[in-house]
Amino acid sequence: MKEKLISQAIRVLEDNFQEGGFTIPCKGLYPFQWKWDSGFIAIGQAYYDASKAKQEIATLLDAQWDNGFIPHIVFHNESDTYFPGADVHRSDLSPVASKKYKSTGMTQPPVTGFVLEEMYRIADDKEDMFAFIKTQIDKVYDNHNYFYKNRDVNDEGLVFIYHNWESGTDNSPIWDDIWTTMNPPEYTFERRDTTHVDASQRPSKREYDHYLYIIEIAKENNYNDAKIAELSPFLVIDPLFNAMLIKSNQALINLYIRIGGNEDKIAQLKKWQAKSIEGFNSKLWDDKLGAYVHYDLRKDAPISFVTSSSFAPLYANIPSQERADALVHTMMTKFGGEDKYLCASFDPESDRFDPKKYWRGPVWINMNWILFYGLKNYGYTDIANRVKEDSIELIEKYGFYEYFNCKKGTENAGYGGGDFSWSAALLIDLLNN
Ligand code: GLC
Repeated sequence: MKEKLISQAIRVLEDNFQEGGFTIPCKGLYPFQWKWDSGFIAIGQAYYDASKAKQEIATLLDAQWDNGFIPHIVFHNESDTYFPGADVHRSDLSPVASKKYKSTGMTQPPVTGFVLEEMYRIADDKEDMFAFIKTQIDKVYDNHNYFYKNRDVNDEGLVFIYHNWESGTDNSPIWDDIWTTMNPPEYTFERRDTTHVDASQRPSKREYDHYLYIIEIAKENNYNDAKIAELSPFLVIDPLFNAMLIKSNQALINLYIRIGGNEDKIAQLKKWQAKSIEGFNSKLWDDKLGAYVHYDLRKDAPISFVTSSSFAPLYANIPSQERADALVHTMMTKFGGEDKYLCASFDPESDRFDPKKYWRGPVWINMNWILFYGLKNYGYTDIANRVKEDSIELIEKYGFYEYFNCKKGTENAGYGGGDFSWSAALLIDLLNN
């Protein structure tokens, strides 16, 4: 069974690989290179084709901007199957954007640091992979420098996101209350996502108006971060995003130590790291919920809901053991019933939960992968194994879908895009661990 699943997963990744040296998340629905997708994809590729994994990351980092920023989509090619494309995002408005590639002017969770470390762990030819890492690591460092310099507005070690697409959890109910503070125009546009996927599994038209409106504000300000921090109606500290940054800080520290020298960078990373972990634990922990939560910088108030992002800090060793115990208790009570697959993306007990709609409830394999390693960090081996077995079962039963209904026994429980790259890539890793 294992061998068969792995070869199917490799086939998905190979089919989605493009001539330009990158892998699309999914045919039709997502026809370009996405930032955090590429990171997860490279982890899977490292098992069967190290040169492809290296190429995936090198291609992504080649699109880095002069200020260290790495965009969330790199438009390597033209495509009319996706909206909003390069002509909407207009990265050329920014004076520091890449001259070589068109991209968006927003980013995604900073996974690249820990992905480099994972690629090293997985590689058979360590020497070769290490040589590659040495050529790329400074770009990732520059990216972290960008975040701390431009996005930590309160100087508390926590960086903001200014758009829901930066979170990676696009239409989470977390943003619902932010949308009510905005009244964007009714834009006229032709969506493409709902030609590939049933509309009941995707965000609404009105949600898209909000998404576009924030982009317009960023564009009017040429993607200047200080202006965005001042003007964007959406300004959030996201626990998933910041946990990925913290995990990647640690990976960079480990890799620089292995490389030798680089004392200044190691010292700087350790400073950021200590401050971030401290800020994270004091600002994002919600004692009543027993979970980490998002924080709305516009309202200067926490957004008190439990999502799968609430558990990501386990992966980055952010909580104390005591806090981790409370967090896992919350997870098992709300998300862990025997009738459910772990782990829904939004609190199944909430009336905002929707088991079919994208990030409003379904299970995502990348979040499960983060959880699997996070739970293992704190000694929760049995629950970690359940997360792993649930992920394998969902894919085996329904296929390499983008997301899944968490309710056991659902017919056709695979939703969104099919033959989805990170579901395939991370399954390869889970089956090998
Ligand atoms: C969706 C997901 C996002 C992902 C992208 C490409 O927009 O919400 O996290 O990066 O698809 O797969």
